[in-house]
Amino acid sequence: MTRNILHLRAPGNWINDPNGFIYYKGKYHLFYQYFPYAPVWGTMHWGHAVSEDLVHWEHLGIALFPTKAYDQNGVFSGSAIDKDGRLYLYYSAVRYLETDAENIHVAPNDHYETSQAMIVSEDGYHFDNWKDKRKIIPVVMDEETANRAHTRDPKVWKDGEHYYMVLGSTYKEQGGRVLFYRSKDAVEWEYVNQCRSSSFGRILECPDLFEANGEYVFIGSPMSVTEDGLEYAHQAMCTLADYDASTCEMTLKQEMQLIDHGMDLYAPQTNIDRDGRRVMIAWMRMPKEVENPESLPWRGMMCLPRVIEVENGQICFRVHPEVEKYFDTETEQLPDEIHPSHNDIPVQMYYPEGSYDIPCAMPYRLKAVLKEGQELHIGGYRLWIEDDRVRADRSRVYKGIEGYRLTGNTPKLGGRYELDIFVDHNLIETFVNGGQYVLSHVVYGV
Ligand code: FRU
Repeated sequence: MTRNILHLRAPGNWINDPNGFIYYKGKYHLFYQYFPYAPVWGTMHWGHAVSEDLVHWEHLGIALFPTKAYDQNGVFSGSAIDKDGRLYLYYSAVRYLETDAENIHVAPNDHYETSQAMIVSEDGYHFDNWKDKRKIIPVVMDEETANRAHTRDPKVWKDGEHYYMVLGSTYKEQGGRVLFYRSKDAVEWEYVNQCRSSSFGRILECPDLFEANGEYVFIGSPMSVTEDGLEYAHQAMCTLADYDASTCEMTLKQEMQLIDHGMDLYAPQTNIDRDGRRVMIAWMRMPKEVENPESLPWRGMMCLPRVIEVENGQICFRVHPEVEKYFDTETEQLPDEIHPSHNDIPVQMYYPEGSYDIPCAMPYRLKAVLKEGQELHIGGYRLWIEDDRVRADRSRVYKGIEGYRLTGNTPKLGGRYELDIFVDHNLIETFVNGGQYVLSHVVYGV
């Protein structure tokens, strides 16, 4: 089976959201939205990969696929919990109400309905898609409670004696909302509350709610929130929230902020890692597939795992210690493609052990401290400081792709510009000031 290091990539064809991300029985399991037949979105399956350390991934093929009338058109996104040693996976089950005679993999006019379902596995490796699925929340027909089509992406967690589920939804397809459900046994669910907000876009996808450093953090992916007409209009965002578990009453404490200022990242999911940290992983959207003569073309990859911490009221996304550990070899010599604009820019360079003597080997890690007006070129990718922000331009490594953002920038930084840059095939991720902000860009050749 295929292996990936650092960034999980589509094993061929198409992947999108991370699903069922969990540390379970000594391994990290990461499932993902998968269309196994072509490098485009279509009838969703769950692909499956496992890792010992969040760095080395082994693909295990397809875990979940449509078998039931209620999920015949897609096993959409969802999450995982460990209950009494068993793996419980929750997902949204999609059934189309109309068929496109020329493409059975998409729903004409968004005419479909969605229920919530689960499957239980004894060991996290075997999934009986015929016997072990069950529908847990039927399609909601009452618009005041939820939307029949667009209610999805169950994120489940345990708090005290109860299990909780948050679902993304919309009110009349005009404004996003999230729904809260509660359960005593993680199987029978009761509706408890909902939260609507003008910052939830048209539809809110992939909600997540958790505590970090004594604060509640809400994460979600609101649809249609940018106005410049460029891809992507849907963006992953976060905010601090007030939340009362006894009533599932949630209010947002701030405006939603971007999770990644490159704006390619979407549909993040978090869970607790082996050592109790809150770790996030997310889908990096790719406008076209990567061709590889030795394998299937592939499209879609995951970002690096990022540790979420709240510091002085700010949600930070830090480099995971396992990633730190992986880049253990420092070298004085910069690869040919790195060009600092000034000789006095301090740049430190790290490779994983054993790869630093291979010319132009990726991945590598660069640490650089820049000043206003200074610039770093990584092949055709440009990073510089202007107007107190880190800015990036990928136009030379994103050629021939129309209608997408070519540049990105962080908010103002108050004069501190410490960059920690991870360069890998097709993805450059820049952590700024220890995770105060992250700016990541998909690239095609550096
Ligand atoms: C987010 C999303 C989810 C849905 C899944 C379908 O990217 O649209 O809301 O469950 O992808 O693949």
